[in-house]
Amino acid sequence: MIYLDNGATSFHKPETVSGAMRCALENCANPGRGGYTAAMAAAKTVLRCRERAGELFCCSPEQVVFTHNCTHGLNIAIASLVKPGARVVISGFEHNAVTRPLYAREAKVKVAGRKLFDWQDTLEDFENALKAGADAAVFTHVSNVFGYILPVYEMAALCKRYGVPFVVDAAQSAGILPVDLQKLGADFVAMPGHKGLLGPQGTGILLCGREPVPLIQGGTGSLSAQQAMPDFLPDMAEAGTLNVPGIAGLSAGIAYVQQEGVDRIFRREQQQAEKCGKALLKLGLRAFTGDHQAGTVSFVPPIDCEDAAHILGEGGIAVRAGLHCAPLAHESAGTLDTGTVRVSYGHDAAAWQTGSFLLQMEKLLARS
Ligand code: ALA
Repeated sequence: MIYLDNGATSFHKPETVSGAMRCALENCANPGRGGYTAAMAAAKTVLRCRERAGELFCCSPEQVVFTHNCTHGLNIAIASLVKPGARVVISGFEHNAVTRPLYAREAKVKVAGRKLFDWQDTLEDFENALKAGADAAVFTHVSNVFGYILPVYEMAALCKRYGVPFVVDAAQSAGILPVDLQKLGADFVAMPGHKGLLGPQGTGILLCGREPVPLIQGGTGSLSAQQAMPDFLPDMAEAGTLNVPGIAGLSAGIAYVQQEGVDRIFRREQQQAEKCGKALLKLGLRAFTGDHQAGTVSFVPPIDCEDAAHILGEGGIAVRAGLHCAPLAHESAGTLDTGTVRVSYGHDAAAWQTGSFLLQMEKLLARS
């Protein structure tokens, strides 16, 4: 199988990831719950991952909160910043992981910046929305559907200028683009552990630029005599036993990304996406390409997009079709009615993957 669905999850993980998970299963007990060797081994494993994440994302290890996935982190962040009925500015490319928690809080949402690959439009619209009055902003770094890289550092600076607290959704950028908590000055940055960071599913990280409001309460292994949750990071947001095998795998994934280099991974993915996009256009398809595009390309096939993905799957190509849990992004691009087929490259992106995909696309077009 040629795996081109890295937007959903990375699939070909470095071998060190499963090795670290196995090692944790065999050697780690519960971190922070004992002073014996196996509990201490767990504590050390968890701390190492926090330290690595802190290095990669330019923050202190305490600001790294482990979550179940990116959605979990976004929910903590949104619950911390958005009071029911608050005015929230979002980009036109947000995922349901942002829009559904906002909907549940009955937030007054203003969508700003709907033109793909157009930084000027994104920034002008975003600034106008902030100027009109906002209590918070939430925006994605990279669109999961179209690979559009939003100007998040400039958007962050605008939020600072207008005094609006904000959350960055780094679901598709962590491990692929520089994500710098200090430089962003974000209140929160949420990310999955299982995509660009190459860890296992069931892991995620919330970088905290401020103290979050805990979504759940429970044991933390600290201040056990008191009933209120600890008021310090990361304990205040990590009730219950941590996913130590998952965190061990995530730690190995982050180490791999650090060794390989975020820039190199990005270039590899981006080059193939660019090549793929151009070839799809040449085939006469409506493919979405432009400046500021990461390793993801979406296109509208001449047949139903789910059918197209199925046919490609039969030809050994794994892609995702439909709305990609991001109807807002599709609405912005004008593909809400059709959906798209999405090709998303990973850290192992290579020319032969693009070549094989295009070959299957030519066969599909000949059939339709
Ligand atoms: N949000 C993930 C995707 O884009 C699952 O496929």
